[in-house]
Amino acid sequence: MGWWTERVVPRLTHATLDNPVVAGYRERVCADLTGDVVELGFGTGLNLRHLPAPVRSLTAVEPSDLSWQLSERTRTTSTVPVTRGDLTAESLALPTGSVDAVLVTFSLCTVADPVAALAEAGRVLRPDGALHFLEHGLAPDERVRRWQHRLEPLQRRLAGGCHLTRPIPDLVRAAGFDLDVLESWYVPGGSVSKPWGYVWLGRAKRPTA
Ligand SMILES: C[S@@+](CC[C@H](N)C(=O)[O-])C[C@H]1O[C@@H](n2cnc3c(N)ncnc32)[C@H](O)[C@@H]1O
Repeated sequence: MGWWTERVVPRLTHATLDNPVVAGYRERVCADLTGDVVELGFGTGLNLRHLPAPVRSLTAVEPSDLSWQLSERTRTTSTVPVTRGDLTAESLALPTGSVDAVLVTFSLCTVADPVAALAEAGRVLRPDGALHFLEHGLAPDERVRRWQHRLEPLQRRLAGGCHLTRPIPDLVRAAGFDLDVLESWYVPGGSVSKPWGYVWLGRAKRPTA
C-alpha cells in the first residue's frame, strides 16, 4: 500500500461519502438489520449512526488502520458495540453460520476478490441471515459504460483500487445468493457524475436447501 492509498484515500473517501444524499441511502440499507452484524469494508464508520435498535453488535472488517482511527469518535458514541475483526473480507475467521446479517456499502468495488468476499459472507451468515448491500458499479447505459471503462484505470490508481465496472448483482448471484430486493438508480448529479453514480441497494439470502 503506497502513501497515497494509506494516508490520503481514507480521508478522500470519507469526505466524498459523508453527505446527506448518501446518508438517506444508508438509512435504507441498514433498515431491518438485526442481531449480530458483520460489516465488510467498515471504512470510517459512516453506517453506524443508521443502525437500528435491534442490532446487538457490529464486527468491522477493515484493512485500513487510518480509517479505523478516523472512526474512533463515531464508534465511541455509538450505542452498538463495535469490534474490529478480520482485516480482509475474502477470508473471515468467524465461524460458519454465526452472524445474523452482513452489511457492505461502497466496498465491493474495492475488495480484491468480491466473489470470494461474498462467498465468505454467505458462509458466516446463519441460514436465514441476510446480506444488505449498497454499491456502485456498471451502469446500464452504453455511453456511461464506455466512460466507466475509460476512467477505471485512473480511478483504481487514485481511489485505492476502486473499480467502476463491477456488475454487483451478478457477483452477488455468482457467490450463491438469491436476491430478495434489488433497486438501482443514478445518484443525482448530472451526466458528469454518472460513471461513479450508478448504485444498487439490495438484500440477498442463501437459497434454502
Ligand atoms: C470506499 S470505502 C467505503 C467505506 C464504507 N463502507 C462506507 O460506506 O463509507 C471502501 C472500503 O473498503 C475497504 N477495503 C478494501 N479492501 C478490502 C478488503 N479486501 N476487505 C475489506 N475491506 C476492504 C477500504 O479500506 C475502504 O475502507
